Amino acid sequence: MAPSKASTLSLFTITTLLLLLLLPLLSHAASSFEYLNQVKGSRKGDNVQGILDVKKHLEKFGYLSGHSQNDDFDDQLESAIKTYQINYNLEATGRLDAKTVSNMMIPRCGVPDIINGTTSMISRKIQHHEGLTVSQYAFFPGNPKWPSSKYRLTYAFLQGTPNQAKDPVKRAFQTWANNTQFTFSQVEEYRTPDLTISFQRRDHGDRYPFDGRGGVTAHAFSPTDGRFHYDADEMWVVGSVNGGMDLQSIAVHEIGHLLGLDHSFVEDAIMYPYLNTATVKRNLKPDDIQGIKNLYNIK
Ligand SMILES: *[C@@H]1O[C@H](CO)[C@@H](O)[C@H](O)[C@H]1NC(C)=O
Ligand SMILES: *[C@@H]1O[C@H](CO)[C@@H](O)[C@H](O)[C@H]1NC(C)=O
Ligand SMILES: [Zn+2]
Ligand SMILES: [Zn+2]
Repeated sequence: MAPSKASTLSLFTITTLLLLLLLPLLSHAASSFEYLNQVKGSRKGDNVQGILDVKKHLEKFGYLSGHSQNDDFDDQLESAIKTYQINYNLEATGRLDAKTVSNMMIPRCGVPDIINGTTSMISRKIQHHEGLTVSQYAFFPGNPKWPSSKYRLTYAFLQGTPNQAKDPVKRAFQTWANNTQFTFSQVEEYRTPDLTISFQRRDHGDRYPFDGRGGVTAHAFSPTDGRFHYDADEMWVVGSVNGGMDLQSIAVHEIGHLLGLDHSFVEDAIMYPYLNTATVKRNLKPDDIQGIKNLYNIK
């Protein structure tokens, strides 16, 4: 009697312990944009649990401001979704159709697509070449950039930066140096570098908290702030790995922000906000090069 009771008890204890250990892993496996799945198919007039989260999502990326604090799919939300759909070349249905929701669920940069309502498509510089839109790069409001006395920039990795991130970031700086007048050199943190790279998680003291695995992967500030933050909760890798985010691809994008480029809606461009896991996108595209040349008047 006694031994079997003891083993039942320990089996119970082990199962409980295993579950407790696995739970955080299981919840991590889901992307932090997963909540968008439950609103798929909804439209104006609906009231579906999760709509408030969609409003917060669209607010975070600049598509909504001062929204209602409920799950009502209202006019304001419909119009925000239309703007989002126009930006991403989706059919402007104003509904949370499957294509729109899938687009919204791709991991992305945390920098808003629209800042203070001023970087909408309308204010973007669009160049036409033989009738085709070939350029949709954008700058931050007020076109902040580095002064010509600051073309030799220094950068430092802050404490806690994993070693595996350093070479990919170095190569990303080299990519921009190869296409601009900038040079980048690594210095120690105490030498007050112009640019800093660090790994942060959740709320980390700026106004842009990270969100765990998936969702927002990184962000960086416009000139001359110099901060570039990776979300430490992502599965960071070098190259194309299932479920992993390529350190170098993300660095090339974020350095674009550090230099003054905002998001581009050219899917091919480095400054496009979304990047799927297991995807490598490390080389500047014509849109990125035209953008940086235009900002700094390089011929
Ligand atoms: C956006 O507007 C707020 C408040 O008007 C202002 O403090 C902030 O600097 C603006 N941001 C940019 C990037 O222009
Ligand atoms: C930068 O240019 C040099 C010289 O052309 C080349 O060897 C190097 O591979 C380039 N680096 C990157 C990261 O593009
Ligand atoms: Zn970005
Ligand atoms: Zn941050």
